[in-house]
Amino acid sequence: MVDLTAATTDQLEQVHARYPRQATLRDGQSVELRLMAESDREAVLAFARGLPNDDLLFLQANITEPAAIDSWLEAIRTRTTTTVLAFNNGEVIGDGSMHHHRAQWTRHIGEIRLLIGAGGRGQGLGRILADEIYSIANTFGLRMLTAQMTFDQQAAISIFRRLGFQREAVLTDYVMDAAGNSRDLLVATRRL
Ligand SMILES: CC(C)(COP(=O)(O)OP(=O)(O)OC[C@H]1O[C@@H](n2cnc3c(N)ncnc32)[C@H](O)[C@@H]1OP(=O)(O)O)[C@@H](O)C(=O)NCCC(=O)NCCS
Repeated sequence: MVDLTAATTDQLEQVHARYPRQATLRDGQSVELRLMAESDREAVLAFARGLPNDDLLFLQANITEPAAIDSWLEAIRTRTTTTVLAFNNGEVIGDGSMHHHRAQWTRHIGEIRLLIGAGGRGQGLGRILADEIYSIANTFGLRMLTAQMTFDQQAAISIFRRLGFQREAVLTDYVMDAAGNSRDLLVATRRL
């Protein structure tokens, strides 16, 4: 069965061999994609601190705090998280992450999360990073990817739909925004 902590050397080598790689955005800009590592701590923190509050509200942790970046790096070390960062002129402009469920009964599942800086949106980067995570999940032999979003995250819905994700569940009033208004959460899945 799948266990990323016991990923074979071959699987890890395949994922590492894929990076760094270049991708071209819709406006012709070139970005570098590479796996997040210890040395990216400050660049990721700067990226997080440039995000609008609305985006931070829906994250699992407050990544504007150095401690949250350290926890993220620890998750990378223990392979519960794999993150692909997108760089433009040395600055992080987006990330795609896969969180691997470690519990015995969900060890075949990865959760995909995407975050693009406000200034870099609409250039196809979200789609590029989603494709990267999809490819990594396949290399690791996972059986399923999940993604969570609200119905107003139309770009996310469009990305995941095109990648073959299907609506799995809707959790009514599951999300609460800063003003205290609740929204429904869409859980989508893609069998691999
Ligand atoms: C969702 C997100 C990652 C998309 O990133 P992005 O780089 O702007 O996405 P892309 O440029 O690749 O666009 C993806 C698609 O969404 C479409 N799209 C963008 N905004 C849209 C909108 N308001 N309504 C409908 N479609 C929209 C684009 O047209 C594009 O489709 P196309 O390739 O067929 O033209 C980014 O908006 C983000 O970080 N949002 C906050 C966090 C989030 O919602 N994460 C997703 C859940 S994990």
